[in-house]
Amino acid sequence: MIGFHIMTLFPDMVLNGLQTSIIGRGIERGYVEVEAVNIRDYAFNKHHKVDDYPYGGGAGMLMQAEPIYQCYQAILQRIREKGQDKPVRCIYLTPQGTVFRQEMARSLAKEEELILLCGHYEGVDERVLEEIVTDHISIGDYVLTGGELAAMVVVDAVARLVPGVLNNDASGETESFQENLLEYPQYSRPEVWHDKKVPEILLSGHHENVEKWRYEQSLIRTRERRPDLLVKNEQNN
Ligand code: ADE
Repeated sequence: MIGFHIMTLFPDMVLNGLQTSIIGRGIERGYVEVEAVNIRDYAFNKHHKVDDYPYGGGAGMLMQAEPIYQCYQAILQRIREKGQDKPVRCIYLTPQGTVFRQEMARSLAKEEELILLCGHYEGVDERVLEEIVTDHISIGDYVLTGGELAAMVVVDAVARLVPGVLNNDASGETESFQENLLEYPQYSRPEVWHDKKVPEILLSGHHENVEKWRYEQSLIRTRERRPDLLVKNEQNN
Protein backbone atom coordinates (compact mmCIF):
# COMPACT_ATOMS: atom_id res chain seq x y z
CA MET A 1 0.00 0.00 0.00
CA ILE A 2 1.30 3.44 -0.93
CA GLY A 3 -0.32 6.84 -0.53
CA PHE A 4 0.32 9.73 -2.93
CA HIS A 5 -0.67 13.23 -1.82
CA ILE A 6 -0.50 15.69 -4.68
CA MET A 7 -0.52 19.45 -4.08
CA THR A 8 -1.87 21.12 -7.22
CA LEU A 9 -3.98 23.94 -8.63
CA PHE A 10 -5.68 21.41 -10.95
CA PRO A 11 -6.82 18.44 -8.82
CA ASP A 12 -9.32 17.22 -11.44
CA MET A 13 -6.60 16.90 -14.07
CA VAL A 14 -4.51 14.69 -11.80
CA LEU A 15 -7.40 12.55 -10.56
CA ASN A 16 -8.94 12.06 -14.01
CA GLY A 17 -5.61 10.87 -15.33
CA LEU A 18 -4.83 8.49 -12.50
CA GLN A 19 -8.26 7.04 -11.74
CA THR A 20 -8.44 5.27 -15.07
CA SER A 21 -6.52 2.27 -16.32
CA ILE A 22 -4.22 0.12 -14.23
CA ILE A 23 -3.47 2.65 -11.51
CA GLY A 24 -7.24 3.24 -11.15
CA ARG A 25 -7.69 -0.47 -10.56
CA GLY A 26 -4.86 -0.36 -8.00
CA ILE A 27 -6.76 2.40 -6.21
CA GLU A 28 -10.04 0.44 -6.29
CA ARG A 29 -8.33 -2.64 -4.92
CA GLY A 30 -6.69 -0.69 -2.11
CA TYR A 31 -3.04 -1.03 -3.15
CA VAL A 32 -2.74 2.65 -3.98
CA GLU A 33 -4.25 5.79 -2.53
CA VAL A 34 -4.21 9.07 -4.45
CA GLU A 35 -5.42 12.38 -3.11
CA ALA A 36 -5.16 15.63 -5.04
CA VAL A 37 -5.28 18.63 -2.73
CA ASN A 38 -6.12 22.05 -4.15
CA ILE A 39 -3.52 24.59 -3.00
CA ARG A 40 -6.09 27.33 -3.60
CA ASP A 41 -8.12 25.99 -0.65
CA TYR A 42 -5.26 27.16 1.58
CA ALA A 43 -5.11 30.72 0.26
CA PHE A 44 -6.62 32.65 3.13
CA ASN A 45 -7.43 35.83 1.25
CA LYS A 46 -10.69 37.04 -0.26
CA HIS A 47 -10.03 35.94 -3.81
CA HIS A 48 -8.10 32.75 -3.03
CA LYS A 49 -5.12 34.25 -4.77
CA VAL A 50 -2.01 32.03 -4.75
CA ASP A 51 0.38 34.00 -7.00
CA ASP A 52 2.20 37.32 -6.95
CA TYR A 53 4.89 39.30 -8.81
CA PRO A 54 8.53 38.27 -8.36
CA TYR A 55 10.76 40.63 -6.37
CA GLY A 56 13.40 42.11 -8.65
CA GLY A 57 11.04 42.05 -11.61
CA GLY A 58 10.87 39.70 -14.56
CA ALA A 59 8.15 38.00 -16.57
CA GLY A 60 5.23 36.16 -15.07
CA MET A 61 3.98 35.36 -11.59
CA LEU A 62 5.22 33.14 -8.80
CA MET A 63 3.31 30.81 -6.51
CA GLN A 64 3.47 32.25 -3.01
CA ALA A 65 4.96 30.36 -0.09
CA GLU A 66 2.18 30.41 2.50
CA PRO A 67 -0.70 28.60 0.70
CA ILE A 68 1.70 25.79 -0.29
CA TYR A 69 3.06 25.59 3.25
CA GLN A 70 -0.43 25.41 4.79
CA CYS A 71 -1.49 22.77 2.24
CA TYR A 72 1.63 20.72 3.06
CA GLN A 73 1.04 20.98 6.82
CA ALA A 74 -2.57 19.83 6.44
CA ILE A 75 -1.49 16.77 4.42
CA LEU A 76 1.32 15.94 6.85
CA GLN A 77 -1.05 16.20 9.79
CA ARG A 78 -3.46 13.72 8.16
CA ILE A 79 -0.59 11.33 7.52
CA ARG A 80 0.55 11.62 11.17
CA GLU A 81 -3.03 11.00 12.37
CA LYS A 82 -2.94 7.67 10.55
CA GLY A 83 -0.09 6.72 12.89
CA GLN A 84 2.67 7.14 10.29
CA ASP A 85 5.60 8.74 12.10
CA LYS A 86 8.45 8.23 9.58
CA PRO A 87 9.83 11.25 7.69
CA VAL A 88 7.76 11.79 4.52
CA ARG A 89 9.53 12.65 1.27
CA CYS A 90 8.17 15.70 -0.54
CA ILE A 91 8.86 15.83 -4.27
CA TYR A 92 8.87 19.08 -6.22
CA LEU A 93 8.33 18.52 -9.97
CA THR A 94 10.58 20.91 -11.84
CA PRO A 95 12.70 20.94 -15.00
CA GLN A 96 15.56 21.90 -12.62
CA GLY A 97 15.37 18.55 -10.82
CA THR A 98 17.28 15.29 -11.19
CA VAL A 99 16.05 13.50 -14.31
CA PHE A 100 13.61 10.73 -13.36
CA ARG A 101 14.80 7.18 -14.00
CA GLN A 102 13.63 3.67 -13.17
CA GLU A 103 16.03 3.40 -10.22
CA MET A 104 14.42 6.49 -8.70
CA ALA A 105 10.98 4.91 -9.19
CA ARG A 106 12.30 1.82 -7.37
CA SER A 107 13.53 3.90 -4.46
CA LEU A 108 10.26 5.85 -4.16
CA ALA A 109 8.18 2.64 -4.31
CA LYS A 110 9.66 1.65 -0.93
CA GLU A 111 7.92 4.58 0.77
CA GLU A 112 4.49 4.33 2.37
CA GLU A 113 3.51 7.96 1.82
CA LEU A 114 4.74 10.51 -0.74
CA ILE A 115 3.86 14.18 -1.07
CA LEU A 116 4.21 15.78 -4.53
CA LEU A 117 4.17 19.50 -5.33
CA CYS A 118 3.12 20.70 -8.79
CA GLY A 119 4.38 24.16 -9.65
CA HIS A 120 2.68 26.61 -12.00
CA TYR A 121 3.16 30.09 -13.45
CA GLU A 122 6.87 30.95 -13.59
CA GLY A 123 7.77 29.04 -10.44
CA VAL A 124 7.49 28.88 -6.68
CA ASP A 125 8.87 31.12 -3.92
CA GLU A 126 12.21 29.50 -3.07
CA ARG A 127 11.70 29.76 0.69
CA VAL A 128 8.87 27.25 0.89
CA LEU A 129 10.85 24.85 -1.31
CA GLU A 130 13.73 25.08 1.17
CA GLU A 131 11.42 24.23 4.04
CA ILE A 132 9.43 21.29 2.69
CA VAL A 133 11.04 19.72 -0.40
CA THR A 134 13.31 16.66 -0.06
CA ASP A 135 13.56 15.66 -3.78
CA HIS A 136 13.58 17.81 -6.93
CA ILE A 137 12.52 15.70 -9.92
CA SER A 138 12.38 16.49 -13.65
CA ILE A 139 10.76 14.06 -16.08
CA GLY A 140 12.99 15.19 -18.94
CA ASP A 141 14.78 18.11 -20.52
CA TYR A 142 11.80 20.07 -21.75
CA VAL A 143 9.49 22.58 -20.11
CA LEU A 144 5.85 21.81 -19.37
CA THR A 145 3.20 24.40 -18.41
CA GLY A 146 2.91 22.88 -14.95
CA GLY A 147 4.00 19.99 -12.75
CA GLU A 148 0.78 17.97 -13.04
CA LEU A 149 1.74 15.81 -16.02
CA ALA A 150 5.14 15.21 -14.43
CA ALA A 151 3.51 14.20 -11.12
CA MET A 152 1.24 11.76 -12.99
CA VAL A 153 4.26 10.23 -14.70
CA VAL A 154 6.05 9.73 -11.38
CA VAL A 155 2.95 8.33 -9.63
CA ASP A 156 2.31 5.90 -12.50
CA ALA A 157 5.90 4.65 -12.63
CA VAL A 158 6.09 4.23 -8.85
CA ALA A 159 2.62 2.74 -8.31
CA ARG A 160 3.11 -0.03 -10.88
CA LEU A 161 6.05 -1.31 -8.80
CA VAL A 162 3.86 -1.71 -5.70
CA PRO A 163 3.02 -5.42 -5.24
CA GLY A 164 -0.54 -6.21 -6.35
CA VAL A 165 -0.93 -3.29 -8.75
CA LEU A 166 0.06 -5.23 -11.86
CA ASN A 167 -1.99 -8.32 -12.65
CA ASN A 168 0.90 -10.62 -13.52
CA ASP A 169 2.84 -12.51 -10.86
CA ALA A 170 6.19 -11.19 -12.03
CA SER A 171 7.16 -7.79 -10.71
CA GLY A 172 7.12 -4.67 -12.88
CA GLU A 173 10.87 -5.00 -12.95
CA THR A 174 10.97 -7.79 -15.52
CA GLU A 175 10.18 -5.28 -18.22
CA SER A 176 12.17 -2.51 -19.88
CA PHE A 177 15.12 -1.11 -17.94
CA GLN A 178 15.94 -4.13 -15.90
CA GLU A 179 19.74 -4.18 -15.94
CA ASN A 180 19.53 -1.02 -18.06
CA LEU A 181 18.47 -2.97 -21.17
CA LEU A 182 15.48 -2.29 -23.39
CA GLU A 183 12.88 -4.99 -23.70
CA TYR A 184 13.13 -7.57 -26.51
CA PRO A 185 10.54 -7.61 -29.35
CA GLN A 186 7.34 -9.59 -28.66
CA TYR A 187 4.82 -11.37 -30.89
CA SER A 188 1.30 -12.73 -30.53
CA ARG A 189 -1.12 -14.50 -32.89
CA PRO A 190 -1.33 -14.88 -35.85
CA GLU A 191 1.92 -16.63 -36.74
CA VAL A 192 2.08 -14.75 -40.06
CA TRP A 193 0.88 -11.17 -40.45
CA HIS A 194 1.50 -8.94 -43.51
CA ASP A 195 3.94 -11.60 -44.75
CA LYS A 196 5.92 -11.24 -41.51
CA LYS A 197 6.56 -14.47 -39.65
CA VAL A 198 7.07 -14.81 -35.91
CA PRO A 199 10.77 -15.72 -35.29
CA GLU A 200 11.07 -19.52 -35.45
CA ILE A 201 12.81 -19.84 -32.11
CA LEU A 202 9.75 -18.49 -30.25
CA LEU A 203 7.68 -21.39 -31.62
CA SER A 204 10.28 -23.99 -30.67
CA GLY A 205 9.16 -24.45 -27.09
CA HIS A 206 12.84 -24.51 -26.08
CA HIS A 207 12.78 -22.24 -23.04
CA GLU A 208 16.53 -21.81 -22.67
CA ASN A 209 17.05 -20.86 -26.31
CA VAL A 210 14.14 -18.45 -26.15
CA GLU A 211 15.69 -16.71 -23.13
CA LYS A 212 19.06 -16.51 -24.87
CA TRP A 213 17.50 -15.07 -28.03
CA ARG A 214 15.56 -12.49 -26.01
CA TYR A 215 18.66 -11.38 -24.17
CA GLU A 216 20.55 -10.96 -27.47
CA GLN A 217 17.65 -8.99 -28.93
CA SER A 218 17.65 -6.75 -25.86
CA LEU A 219 21.34 -6.05 -26.38
CA ILE A 220 20.91 -5.34 -30.11
CA ARG A 221 17.94 -3.07 -29.48
CA THR A 222 19.68 -1.17 -26.70
CA ARG A 223 22.82 -0.71 -28.81
CA GLU A 224 20.72 0.68 -31.68
CA ARG A 225 18.30 2.88 -29.80
CA ARG A 226 19.87 3.75 -26.43
CA PRO A 227 23.64 3.23 -26.55
CA ASP A 228 23.90 5.55 -23.52
CA LEU A 229 22.27 2.81 -21.40
CA LEU A 230 25.02 0.32 -22.30
CA VAL A 231 27.64 2.80 -21.13
CA LYS A 232 25.75 3.06 -17.82
CA ASN A 233 25.71 -0.75 -17.61
CA GLU A 234 29.49 -0.95 -17.99
CA GLN A 235 29.94 1.70 -15.33
CA ASN A 236 27.80 -0.32 -12.92
CA ASN A 237 29.54 -3.65 -13.52
N1 ADE B 1 7.43 21.22 -14.74
C1 ADE B 1 7.61 21.82 -15.93
N2 ADE B 1 8.40 21.08 -16.72
C2 ADE B 1 8.73 19.95 -16.02
C3 ADE B 1 9.54 18.82 -16.29
N3 ADE B 1 10.17 18.65 -17.44
N4 ADE B 1 9.66 17.89 -15.32
C4 ADE B 1 9.05 18.06 -14.14
N5 ADE B 1 8.28 19.11 -13.83
C5 ADE B 1 8.12 20.05 -14.75
